[in-house]
Amino acid sequence: MKKFDILALGELNVDLLLNRIAGFPEVGKEIFAQDMTLTLGSSTAIFAANAATLGPKVSFVGMIGRDSFGDLVKSTLEQRHVDVSNLIEVDNAATGLTAILNYDNDRANVTYPGAMSLMGVKDIRPEIIREAKHVHVSSIFLQETLHKEIYEIVKLVKDCGATLSMDVQFDPAETWEFDYARILPLVDIFMPNEQELMAITRKATVEEAVEAILPYANVTVVKMGTRGSMLVTRDGRHHLPAMLNKSVVDAIGAGDSFDAGFIAAYVSGKPLDVCQRVGNLTGAVNTTAAGGTGAFTSKAAVEEAARKHFGQKLEL
Ligand SMILES: Nc1ncnc2c1ncn2[C@@H]1O[C@H](COP(=O)(O)OP(=O)(O)OP(=O)(O)O)[C@@H](O)[C@H]1O
Ligand SMILES: [Mg+2]
Repeated sequence: MKKFDILALGELNVDLLLNRIAGFPEVGKEIFAQDMTLTLGSSTAIFAANAATLGPKVSFVGMIGRDSFGDLVKSTLEQRHVDVSNLIEVDNAATGLTAILNYDNDRANVTYPGAMSLMGVKDIRPEIIREAKHVHVSSIFLQETLHKEIYEIVKLVKDCGATLSMDVQFDPAETWEFDYARILPLVDIFMPNEQELMAITRKATVEEAVEAILPYANVTVVKMGTRGSMLVTRDGRHHLPAMLNKSVVDAIGAGDSFDAGFIAAYVSGKPLDVCQRVGNLTGAVNTTAAGGTGAFTSKAAVEEAARKHFGQKLEL
């Protein structure tokens, strides 16, 4: 028996959301926002919090500064039952922050990565990985040192005997440097969305992109938004349509919630077709409440939303 079912390895930051802004900011001027929220951001944190809500024991390895935003990150994860004893607090950088200027249908974001850009392979203690059954690595392009050392990190995880999933997420630099031929053989479950998969393989269609990774990948699940997901194994492909939500609140974090559901099922030993169904359902449930964690206040709340909005039973 391992101490943790899932160890999330990734970025941590706070989101400062400014809503109802009177116009667009201009250099040399000042405008008001009518509403403000300061909350835990970062897609790996949404994954960890929602996975913990679904049942597995989850810990987190990520870097924060020794500051009040770091305290906010820690206390919010704790409230969500994520173990914070493996967080790394540093003195030489501040906790990362994303300032989000929210307009009706779109957002302008500015991110200060801070501590999250420093975490590398030397910071990840092998003893911690040996305590976990499974490791989930996410947002690799957002974390400068982790990105440079990603091969060494996945190698370390596999050498410590854990299974491994990876969600690359967006590359703000849009260079998409990712040596998939070298890295994917070590990844048990690869979880990109369609755009990310095409970008890292430099292919124009999802079909060509899947062909490109097939010789190297073990299991891949491609997230396709309102079209659901596609499971790709060496035995074939299985497209599972989305459970369509007629009253979407927002889709922030749907991908992370998909990952959380899929991996929660995977670590409890469910077959891949069940993992995919759970992923589609938790991705859909995510869209029934605000933000990435709003629908995941408890497992009972997720079960109720699954039943009420989609007529589904959570297979966990
Ligand atoms: N509007 C929706 N209705 C129902 N299900 C949805 C909806 N949007 C997403 N999903 C489900 O959630 C899964 C993940 O969403 P998506 O494909 O948007 O991931 P992503 O692009 O990685 O998102 P993120 O921006 O959160 O990283 C989809 O595969 C789908 O099953
Ligand atoms: Mg995503």
